[in-house]
Amino acid sequence: MSREAAAQQFYARWADLYDVLARSTPGLGRLRGRAADALALEPGDTVVEMGCGTGANLPHLRERVGPEGRVVGVDFTRGMLARARDRIEREGWANVHLVRADAAEVEFREAVDAVLATFVVGMLADPGAAVDRWADLLAPGGRIALLDAAQTARWFGWPVNRAFRGLVVASSPTGTDGYERAPWTVLDNRVDAARRALRARADETTHTEHALGVVRVTGGRIP
Ligand SMILES: C[S@@+](CC[C@H](N)C(=O)[O-])C[C@H]1O[C@@H](n2cnc3c(N)ncnc32)[C@H](O)[C@@H]1O
Repeated sequence: MSREAAAQQFYARWADLYDVLARSTPGLGRLRGRAADALALEPGDTVVEMGCGTGANLPHLRERVGPEGRVVGVDFTRGMLARARDRIEREGWANVHLVRADAAEVEFREAVDAVLATFVVGMLADPGAAVDRWADLLAPGGRIALLDAAQTARWFGWPVNRAFRGLVVASSPTGTDGYERAPWTVLDNRVDAARRALRARADETTHTEHALGVVRVTGGRIP
């Protein structure tokens, strides 16, 4: 099975549980807010969320661009998009749209103001190339923000990373490339590669770490 098919099957199966965790894990809403802040959105902006899942970031983005702005969620898993669509209909958000597409390849007719990806780059085979493409989608001065979890580099990291590895195994789609032996290493490398690509394109970056250094929020302005 291809990497994409395995991921879609995994997320389609766990969409309900994922939605509950994505919305109610303590502290996660605050981190989502920080990632949205790193985009420096203004009312009227157009923001694209890559790998939007069940739509847990949509309220943060909608709040910042206002009713005159536009929010577009991109995901390739139908079951995740179905939950995001329920949320949009429940809230009556006329300016929030969903697109089923591969986040590594999606294109838009017009340049956008910002791109957000939360807990997504670790799933992409070539996250550096994806970030590079996302930078190309932006109007000059647009921003990208990445929110991810990976092993901590802090001195007390060993027990934290041990627990984190268990979480990575439990939440990784099985049968995907490189995930058979040490999925946490694949994740660490992809999270780093995405940040390297963002720093290489940006003229201004921000970076904060949370949850004992496991969670990182990185933003960049693309000239
Ligand atoms: C861990 S979930 C994160 C969802 C959401 N961003 C959040 O923070 O709750 C990863 C999501 O990325 C989607 N995804 C992974 N690779 C993708 C790709 N290449 N194109 C589109 N969506 C992708 C999956 O379908 C899933 O919904």
